[in-house]
Amino acid sequence: MDKLVIYGGKPLRGKVRISGAKNASLAILCASIMAGEPVLLENVPDISDVRVMIEIIRHIGAEVTWEGDSSLRIIAPSKLAGDPPCELVKKLRASNLLLGPLLARFGHARVSLPGGCNIGVRPMDLHFKGLAGLGAGIDLHGGYAVGKSGPRLKGARIYLDFPSVGATENIMMAACLADGQTVLENVAKEPEIVDLANFLNCLGAKVRGAGTDIIKIEGVSELGGCMRYAVIPDRIEAGTFMVAAAATRGQVELENIIPPHVEPISAKLRDAGVDVTENGDVLTVGVNGPLRPVDIKTLPYPGFPTDMQSQMMAFLSTVEGTSVIIENIFENRFQIADELKRMGARIKVEGRMAVVEGVPALHGTQVRATDLRAGAALVIAGLMARGRTVVSNTCYIDRGYHQLEEKLRSLGADLTRMRHGDGSLL
Ligand code: EPZ
Repeated sequence: MDKLVIYGGKPLRGKVRISGAKNASLAILCASIMAGEPVLLENVPDISDVRVMIEIIRHIGAEVTWEGDSSLRIIAPSKLAGDPPCELVKKLRASNLLLGPLLARFGHARVSLPGGCNIGVRPMDLHFKGLAGLGAGIDLHGGYAVGKSGPRLKGARIYLDFPSVGATENIMMAACLADGQTVLENVAKEPEIVDLANFLNCLGAKVRGAGTDIIKIEGVSELGGCMRYAVIPDRIEAGTFMVAAAATRGQVELENIIPPHVEPISAKLRDAGVDVTENGDVLTVGVNGPLRPVDIKTLPYPGFPTDMQSQMMAFLSTVEGTSVIIENIFENRFQIADELKRMGARIKVEGRMAVVEGVPALHGTQVRATDLRAGAALVIAGLMARGRTVVSNTCYIDRGYHQLEEKLRSLGADLTRMRHGDGSLL
């Protein structure tokens, strides 16, 4: 496993361009197997999760080729070449988003259950309930979800007990090819849901209301292709750089942003005394005065995103005063607290609440990433800390951040990747 070696204490300064959104790209890649004609996607981040998803849809028969470093040409199969491969599905939870498209287009699906991960159990009951509501028969056995949808799914009225991002996406995709109207209520409103709906409509689907509490879909008999579709910028990558700028007390200009998508993060940083100014699709984040502790509750969009919780915990660990973080989305997303405490942070975790007492500075040491966003947060902690920090399990970070080291180095960070087995940097 590679490691990142970071010498901290240098404020980040300069400009960084944000890449395409991982979570929008993964959902849109799943939707692309429903396209009857070729699709060209732009602004797709070349990250390991996207590369795994490309391998999965190639395995079921899609032709996928990179055109340049962020465009993908996709030709979906007219019939399935095979089931999504279990060993790849296990690597990538988002592969569960293939269930809806496979049922809708091919009438059957056999997808290995992705299982839980470090941040929580992450069941799929809402996915299954919604797809069953459209008439699919879903059986779970031997670690697989096996679905059949008869001649055609049928539009229905479906209420989600929780605004699950994945369940909203799976059911919305399936409903595009169902017979009749589907009304989805209490849905997720994340920007990635809107991006997926826009892509589906580019293929000829009839999806209305994405981004609101109710989505209405008029089923069509087949979907076409899409000459060009550009994926939205990654709001969590943007947020990660915003927090890194604040944490290192620097000043960073972020390009290729959609400011409303990061508003929950901008607002929270402003509460903490950070300057955040917008100028079109450029956001400038800087620290020019005293910082204040803040309280955070993670919520479905447009609330504060759970995917930014670890990064904020790292930042607040050196903001004088007491900050309280409540994690409402996942049941086990405070694992980073133990790693930060090894760097000198003062954090007390009680169930879904973490109380952070700011300390003057963190000190570098060896730390271990436990998931994607915790890994990013440990990089932020290393950039802030005095001395050297070595972050291991960088494979987690590579899942969701395109050229993270290069982008941070261009902002003045002193960090290098130590390849597995090369101890020369230690
Ligand atoms: C998506 O995961 C994102 N992943 C996650 O980003 C993100 O943290 C999450 O949404 C919340 O915003 C992708 O888009 C690929 P959920 P998803 O279904 O769809 C429970 C990252 O770092 N739930 O909204 O799996 C679930 O256990 C990743 O980029 C059920 O109980 O999230 C969780 O507690 C991490 N039953 C909560 O809902 C279900 O059927 C939110 O899950 C589905 C979900």
